[in-house]
Amino acid sequence: MSSSARPRLLLVGGGGGLVGRAVLEEFAPDWTIRSIHRHPVRREQELGVEWRSGDAAGIDDWRAALEGVDTVINLAWYRQGPDRRFRRLADGLLRLVRDSETAGVRRWIQLSVPDAPESLERGLPYLARKREVDRAVASSSLSYAIVRPTMLFGPNDKLLTVMLRTIARYRRFPMFGDGAYHLSPLAVEDLARILRREVTRKDRHTVTAGGPRRWVYRELTDELFRVLGRPARYFRLSPRGSVRLAALLEALGSSLLYAYEVEWLLSDRLGLAPYEGLDRPLATVEPFLETQAARWRRARPGG
Ligand SMILES: NC(=O)c1ccc[n+]([C@@H]2O[C@H](COP(=O)([O-])OP(=O)(O)OC[C@H]3O[C@@H](n4cnc5c(N)ncnc54)[C@H](OP(=O)(O)O)[C@@H]3O)[C@@H](O)[C@H]2O)c1
Repeated sequence: MSSSARPRLLLVGGGGGLVGRAVLEEFAPDWTIRSIHRHPVRREQELGVEWRSGDAAGIDDWRAALEGVDTVINLAWYRQGPDRRFRRLADGLLRLVRDSETAGVRRWIQLSVPDAPESLERGLPYLARKREVDRAVASSSLSYAIVRPTMLFGPNDKLLTVMLRTIARYRRFPMFGDGAYHLSPLAVEDLARILRREVTRKDRHTVTAGGPRRWVYRELTDELFRVLGRPARYFRLSPRGSVRLAALLEALGSSLLYAYEVEWLLSDRLGLAPYEGLDRPLATVEPFLETQAARWRRARPGG
């Protein structure tokens, strides 16, 4: 296919992020990609992606970026911060939705997150502002999919890789409450395949996306100890103590774990059913854990 015959994708946020890296690998072979985010990423250059340096919060007029664009995928979001930070980014994205409506964009994909407890949905800027963008997409005239994946795993993820590293270093791990709530981790490469499928669909809808297995959290953390060849050792915290510990870490400037993430986990809303409709099965988490654990062992023999 000549490059002019390729559909043109505008990727907002993410060329260097966890999801963005997987999206680039998935789409680069047969799409022309224009990518907007703030920091340069070498892989984009290697893949022939057109990078436009930009902060989505500060773009007043998106028409130039949207020129010739067939599909938009929006990944840009922050993990933490004050309301004004989220408000500025949400406003920039609302302008993007508005300009996409008149620019002839064929399909719009918004990366969102699963349901959270009502207090977080209303009171946490991370969620309340994201839902503003989701609602604007859903009430626009665009053909859209709002994709709400659960926790993702992949190289350098902020969940399983961090948990594994913590266990390898400290040989113990906190157990939040009874650990009987659920998590269904989804491989980031599978999310990229889901996005490709959602790009080709025509219906306006919101879809959740879980991985192939709905783990009991405690069984998943036991598995982390197992792949590291260590006996499972926990220090147990009450649900309230768990949120307090995360809030303390947060106050000390750590980005390891945020209090809202613990609350969300404890609320048992992250064990989403597997996404259906892909041509290959979703990846299970075990081979990924084995690879990560082996890498850790090679880096620290005897550690
Ligand atoms: N990770 C998960 O487990 C998970 C689960 C469910 C949903 N999600 C959603 O998936 C999306 C991507 O998440 P991720 O984990 O890939 O995040 P990430 O690794 O933090 O990447 C976020 C990307 O967005 C870009 N970005 C951030 N603020 C921006 C701004 N103001 N303007 C332009 N670009 C900006 C960053 O690039 P620059 O620094 O170069 O700007 C970065 O490439 C988010 O919407 C997130 O809510 C993630």
